[in-house]
Amino acid sequence: MSRLHIKIKEVKHPMALLVGNTGSLVAEVRRNGRFNGQHILSVSQFDKDAIAYVFDVAEEYHHDGKKVAALKPLQGYVLANLFYEPSTRTSSSFMAAMQRLGGTVIPINEVKYSSVSKGESLPDTVRTLEAYADVVVLRHYETGAAALAAKYAHKPIINAGDGIGEHPTQALLDLFTILRERGTIDGLTITMLGDLKYGRTVHSLAKLASLFNVKLNYVSPDSLRMPAELISQIGVPQTELTDLHDVLAETDVLYVTRIQKERFTDEAHYDAVKNSYVITTETMAQAKPTMTLMHPFPRVGEIHIDVDSDPRAAYFRQIEYGMYVRMALLAMVVGKA
Ligand code: CP
Repeated sequence: MSRLHIKIKEVKHPMALLVGNTGSLVAEVRRNGRFNGQHILSVSQFDKDAIAYVFDVAEEYHHDGKKVAALKPLQGYVLANLFYEPSTRTSSSFMAAMQRLGGTVIPINEVKYSSVSKGESLPDTVRTLEAYADVVVLRHYETGAAALAAKYAHKPIINAGDGIGEHPTQALLDLFTILRERGTIDGLTITMLGDLKYGRTVHSLAKLASLFNVKLNYVSPDSLRMPAELISQIGVPQTELTDLHDVLAETDVLYVTRIQKERFTDEAHYDAVKNSYVITTETMAQAKPTMTLMHPFPRVGEIHIDVDSDPRAAYFRQIEYGMYVRMALLAMVVGKA
């Protein structure tokens, strides 16, 4: 068992870590059924209390996985997984989450084999699937697609990534990972690295993390900077850089992202920036001994495989935490958390 795993076991109840004395809050949100019947489209829907509630439920599922599986709280419920873009983690973790809660899944992981390839619109596809399912998880290549689907849907829509817009469930699992790995979010310096222009995970994470007392560093090629409009919405200290080494030594959490070839219209531009940053064992040697290294994955070379055995590399734990967070979100939107 790694040093970090030992630390994870010592983390207190997430709710208590985030909002202090929480007994009455837990009882209140349970009575009200927080997020029951609601869409999850953006991290803007989450304040600190809501985050703490999600984490509290996720933590229960993490620690009492077998008990929860036996209870089957979502037995009889159906999830429609509707993915217009490729996915491994988001798609599989939502499927695993639903199955672990006792529910079943309609998997549309490749829309070209659905009637979308005959020209069926997103609203019609969603209205069809909600006739069979209790919740629809949607990934789409267009920013705003989840919000459009939600306008037509009568069942909860969960945004699983909309173009270069947002990836709210990823941001929640990222923050959950930070909390479990570090035991706190306040006081941390979080450095985001790579494609910050097109990276929906960093767009959502920057907004969500800024609810806490953090410092954010954005390290990217000049042409892939964090959107200025997003920076203007964030009220914590932020610094933009091109050289990771300028902030590596002060970084508590290094969040690496892929340069996303599929977002570029100009291949020469992609070729010019694709190898801008590679985290190696040498990079790790210059980082804090306590630093947490994260990546939403897939990675295509930005973290060398030799780094995987470093206990600071949290990305495979991050992947597992994602399933518990998504179990919590599914249970919450159908009113069974
Ligand atoms: N992090 C993430 O969204 O991964 P997938 O594209 O594999 O779902």
